[in-house]
Formats: sequence, structure tokens, C-alpha cells
Amino acid sequence: MKLFSSRLCTNIPKMLDFYSQFNPSPLSIKQFIDFGQNACEKKSFIFLRKELPVRLANIMKEIALLPTNLLGTNSVNQVNDWYLKSFEEVLKFEKMEPTHENLVGFCNQLVQIRNRHSDVVQTMSQGVLELKESQEGYVDQSLETSIQYFLDRLYMSRISIRMLINQHTILFGGREESKGRQIGCLDPACDISSVVKDAYENARFLCDQYYLASPELVINQCNNLDNTLPIRTVYVPSHLYHMLFELFKNSMRAVMELHDETTENLPPIHVLIVCGKEDICVKISDQGGGIPRSQIDQLFKYMYSTAPQPSKSDLHTVPLAGYGYGLPISRLYARYFHGDIVLLSAEGYGTDAVIYLKALSDEANELLPIFNKTSSKFYRATVPTGDWSNQFRFRSSTFRATVSISSTYLSN
Ligand SMILES: Nc1ncnc2c1ncn2[C@@H]1O[C@H](COP(=O)(O)OP(=O)(O)O)[C@@H](O)[C@H]1O
Ligand SMILES: [Mg+2]
Repeated sequence: MKLFSSRLCTNIPKMLDFYSQFNPSPLSIKQFIDFGQNACEKKSFIFLRKELPVRLANIMKEIALLPTNLLGTNSVNQVNDWYLKSFEEVLKFEKMEPTHENLVGFCNQLVQIRNRHSDVVQTMSQGVLELKESQEGYVDQSLETSIQYFLDRLYMSRISIRMLINQHTILFGGREESKGRQIGCLDPACDISSVVKDAYENARFLCDQYYLASPELVINQCNNLDNTLPIRTVYVPSHLYHMLFELFKNSMRAVMELHDETTENLPPIHVLIVCGKEDICVKISDQGGGIPRSQIDQLFKYMYSTAPQPSKSDLHTVPLAGYGYGLPISRLYARYFHGDIVLLSAEGYGTDAVIYLKALSDEANELLPIFNKTSSKFYRATVPTGDWSNQFRFRSSTFRATVSISSTYLSN
């Protein structure tokens, strides 16, 4: 495998070593807002021309550590090339003066980089599929663990890089106008229930297409600060929408599959929105029959799905389920600002999915992967030997690789 394509300048490996020594600087939502309110393009340029190569180099060092049979696939090679090209392009601005012309050039460059990386998720999943096919469908546990570890870090890094690029290009790009009170892609007064309704309506539209019916929505709110007010927070609405849309699709599918014959009295999906001092919690409760406890560990694995694989021929329709990326990527969005997604299930009844967000914007810090010696050990990990009787054994049949990933995963 060629690690560095010939068209790239020769000191790129050195620059990669250099920038990967720095830890990424996590920003809080408060810092994003404060910066956005007094937006200074020069300051943003000076910050990003170092921070972007640092974030890119940290994850590129991990790509280089992937097992050779995965690194050697055409798709992973392609992803690697995109990162190298973007790294090189940002470095062009390393020593440039922040003149008007250079600032415009930088902004255009960022848009180009964002577009280049828009297919990373499906290309990586294609790479995992290629690897699986080359091994006749068998992926052993240690390889599966490394892939899971890597994809979480790659996609988290990607979310963070896109966040930085979006803030800069929306604030300074001129063409991409900020909507209303929004500061870049952040909404300082994001009304949670309106994002819930929006995500519900769009998931319902898909559900109606597949099942010709859909469960109703019941929303309850509890604002411990002042219950007469709607619950609002500072957040990226598109991230919250992504999580809710995925959770609604899952709940709707479960409800419809369980009540196959009786679409008349479908149990509604209940959403409870609570604002506490520390956490904002959005709980989505369905009566879709729940999930057996033996499957709980699999839910957040990439490509784990109990839905039939969506047809390849129908590329233009958005499937309700089947790629197995809904839960793991949604949880990354939640964790990105130190929130989380947790699933609790009563098998035979239904599932509660809870989204936690930080209520205070100065506690909502970016969670970023850092390349260091500890992370490199993960790629060499051996399977731990069991020290309990009757260990639950990983079943490789549940690791069902899928071919392409819907464009819903590529937004932001
Ligand atoms: N609310 C739910 N009720 C029952 N099963 C669920 C629920 N949410 C998720 N699951 C299970 O978790 C699996 C993975 O979900 P997800 O990551 O969204 O992928 P997909 O929806 O494409 O299958 C689903 O296939 C389903 O088996
Ligand atoms: Mg899903």
C-alpha cells in the first residue's frame, strides 16, 4: 500500500510527525458561542491553521496503525488519500499573512475539504466489507474490537473537524448565511421540543411509507428551573436532530414490527424532556417489545442490525433501518459535547432510549481522540483470556457488514 501518494510534497511525513505531537484543543459550547458573538476572521484563521492540522494528524497516525489487511483495501486507501490531501492543503496556509485574499482562499479551501470528506463514513464501511469478503466473512474478536475502537475515534474526529469548518465557513463565508439567532451552526436558545417534533415528523414519514401507519407522539416536559417555560439550551440543532431521528426510526420500526396485524391501536411513543441543574435529558419510550439482554452489548457496534439490508438498487430512497450505524453514530454526537445515549429495555414490553446533554454550556466540552502510546496499544490488543465461567462469546454472525450508508449519516 502506498502511504503517501507521489503528488504530495515530500515533507508531509515530517509535518505529520510534528503536528501529531500536539494534543487537540477541545472547545466548549460556551467558547464557540463567545467566539462567534465577537467573530474575528483573522483570529479564527490563526487558530484553525494550527488546530486543523493537529486534529487531522492525530487521526491520520491512527489510520496508519490499522491492521494491514484493512489498510490495504481500496476504500481505506482512498480515505487515507483524502486525509493526506486535506492535511497538505491546510498546511499551505501555515505561514501566510492573514490578508483579505488569503482569508477568502482559506475559507474556500475549507469548503473544498468538507466536500471531499463527505463520503468518509460509507467509504470506510465499504473498506470493512472488503476486508470481511477477503476473509470469507470471518472477523475475529480482536480485529472487531480494533475496528470498533478506530471507527469511534475516526468518526468523532470527523464530527469535530466538520464542526470547526462549519463554524468558520458559516460565520465568514458570506454565502452560507446563519439562520436567525443561530451563531454558526449553534443555536443559543434551541427549543428541544420543536427539534423532537421535527425529527418525529420526518421519521414518521418514512414509517408511513414502509408500514402504511405509524405510532403517535406524546410529549411531556419538566423544566426544574421554571416549568412554565419551554426547555431551551445552547446546542447544535442538527446534531440533536440526528440523534432523535435515529431513535424515532428505531422505536417506530420496533412498534410496527410488534403490532404487525393490528395497526389500529398502536401504542404511542412517549417523549419526556427534563431540564435539571446539570443535565438535560430526553427520554424516548416505546412499546415495541424491547431488546433481549443478550443483544444489548451489540447495539452500539457498527453494522449490527436486525433489519434486512436495504436494497442496493434503490439508492435514492432513505431506508428506515438496516445499516446498523444509527445508534453508534448518534451516541458519538451525544458524547461529542460530553453527553451520552443510553438504552434500557424490558424485553417483552419496550425500550427507553435516553439522550443526555450537558445543561451548562461551559461544561459541554468537545470530547476528542488523542493519538498517543495508549491508543496505539489498542491496535495490537490480543483477545483477553476469560476469568469467569460461561463467558458470553462474541458471535461473528451478528457482525453483518453492509454495503453503503445512507446519506442521512453524512450531514453536518
Ligand atoms: N427501540 C428499539 N426497540 C427494539 N430494538 C431496537 C430499538 N432500538 C434499536 N434496536 C435494535 O438495535 C439495532 C441497531 O440499531 P441501529 O444502530 O439504529 O441500526 P439499524 O436501525 O440500521 O438496524 C436494530 O436493528 C434493532 O435490532
Ligand atoms: Mg436505526
